[in-house]
Amino acid sequence: MHEKGSPELNTLVGKLDRERLPVHVAVIMDGNGRWAERRGLPRAAGHRAGAEALREMVRFCAELGIKYLTAYAFSTENWKRPRAEVDQLMALLVEYLYRELEEMDRQGVCLRAIGRPDELPPDARKALADAVERTRDNSLIIVNLALNYGGRREIVDAMRRLGAEIKAGRVEPEKIDEHTIQAYLYTAGIPDPDLLIRPAGEHRLSNFLLWQAAYTEFLMTPVLWPDFGRLHLVQALLEYQRRERRYGGLKA
Ligand code: FPP
Repeated sequence: MHEKGSPELNTLVGKLDRERLPVHVAVIMDGNGRWAERRGLPRAAGHRAGAEALREMVRFCAELGIKYLTAYAFSTENWKRPRAEVDQLMALLVEYLYRELEEMDRQGVCLRAIGRPDELPPDARKALADAVERTRDNSLIIVNLALNYGGRREIVDAMRRLGAEIKAGRVEPEKIDEHTIQAYLYTAGIPDPDLLIRPAGEHRLSNFLLWQAAYTEFLMTPVLWPDFGRLHLVQALLEYQRRERRYGGLKA
């Protein structure tokens, strides 16, 4: 992790165009296991280091003025991992939420969950509900934790709810458009991510924000998530600012 306030970091931050920062940054926190294995540590130590990286990322995004940060913390597929690892991740989530709550609230972080948090173990549900409730009126940055999240499941859930509205006669099928569908997603009311960061050298979307990532800029990096620090984020933001977003149109 690069020191906060290092000359190198300050120089790069100075190069950022503050008017063109992404409004919404999404991250797939991948590579925790490899980070731990390379150090001869248990995988749980990698997840712990990953949670620290997330804490730094939240702080730095808030400082920079990024309005939304969405982090993939636990997917609908992660239940397939050994029971012990799932339990460790859930315990870490509870610990993280209680430990960080005070600080997040003081900073003005509004914490939300996307996914199906209702299927998490009771203590995780409780910690999450407490954190969401305590920070609900904050508005400096909205941090969405994707927990028990799957992009396809999100679309299934949206379609079920929309189907029920149609059945009840409250929605006319011919009036459905993209905005209607957006309004039924877990991310209703949140702008689509402008930038999605995928560390650990993988080149997959892994069922993350399938609908929302239609025009998102992707940034893949070999850096493992626990090593992804402030300097890496600024480099990612500078790369984002070098790109030209055309949304299917032609060069301006
Ligand atoms: C993927 O790395 C990461 C996860 C499945 C969990 C991400 C969770 C955290 C960063 C910490 C917990 C979050 C909170 C909010 C406390 P991997 O284990 O698949 O890594 P590998 O591909 O190197 O094995």
